[in-house]
Amino acid sequence: MSETPKRGRRRVVRTYLTEEDETMPQLKIPGHEHQRPREVTLEEIRDVIGDCHLCPLGETRTNLVFGVGNPHARVMFVGEAPGRNEDLQGEPFVGAAGQNLDGLLSLAGLRREDVYIANVLKCRPPGNRNPKPDEIQVCAPFLREQIRSIWPDIIVCLGNFASHFVLRTEVGIMSLRGQIHTTGHFAVLPTIHPAAALYHREWQELIDHDFRLLGQWLQEHPVEEGDA
Ligand code: URA
Repeated sequence: MSETPKRGRRRVVRTYLTEEDETMPQLKIPGHEHQRPREVTLEEIRDVIGDCHLCPLGETRTNLVFGVGNPHARVMFVGEAPGRNEDLQGEPFVGAAGQNLDGLLSLAGLRREDVYIANVLKCRPPGNRNPKPDEIQVCAPFLREQIRSIWPDIIVCLGNFASHFVLRTEVGIMSLRGQIHTTGHFAVLPTIHPAAALYHREWQELIDHDFRLLGQWLQEHPVEEGDA
C-alpha cells in the first residue's frame, strides 16, 4: 500500500495506548473491547496510526511505511525500518534489499502476494542509522497489533532488531539464525537481514539456507482443515 506524503491534521496516537503490559503498551483500537487475534483489521490499525508524530522520525519521513501483503498470510516477514526507497514509495522492501528478498521468497516457494511484510519502525531513520530504543518503544505496539491481526503461523525476522523484538532476546542473529524457534502461538525463523548479505556476500549462502528451511517447514506444516 502506498501512502500519500504527510499533510493535514495530526492524529494524537498516544491517547490509544494503555500501559497494561509494562514492556509493551497495547494499542487500543476503538470499538474493540478484547482485541482477540484476527479481530482487528489492518485498516483499523492504519487508521489509528494516522499521521503519527510520536517520535521525531515523523518530522523527517516522506511516507510512513505501514506494511504490505496478504492480510491472511501464513508467513509474516518483519524487517528493521524503511530505507530511502521505501520512504519515497511508502512500501517495505522495494530497494536492493527487496530484490534480494524476492529471490529468497522463491527459494521458499513463496511469492510476495502470499506473505505480509512489515518493519519494526514505520518511518525511516535518517541516513539509515539503527533504530533507537525509544523509537522502537513507541512504534512497536503498531507492529504487535499487525501481528495479532494477521496471526500468521510463522514469523520470519530479518536481522537483529526484528529478532530481538519478536523473541524478546538480546542474543545476536548469528546465534539465533538457522533454526525454528517458538514463542507463544508462533513459529519464528530469525535470519540475516537481506541488506546485510549485499555487503557480506559470504552471508548469502546462510540466508539462502534459512529460506530453504522456511520452505521445508511450510511443507511439513500444511494448512489445517478449516484454517485456510
Ligand atoms: N530494510 C528493512 O529493514 N526494511 C525495509 O523495508 C527496507 C530495507
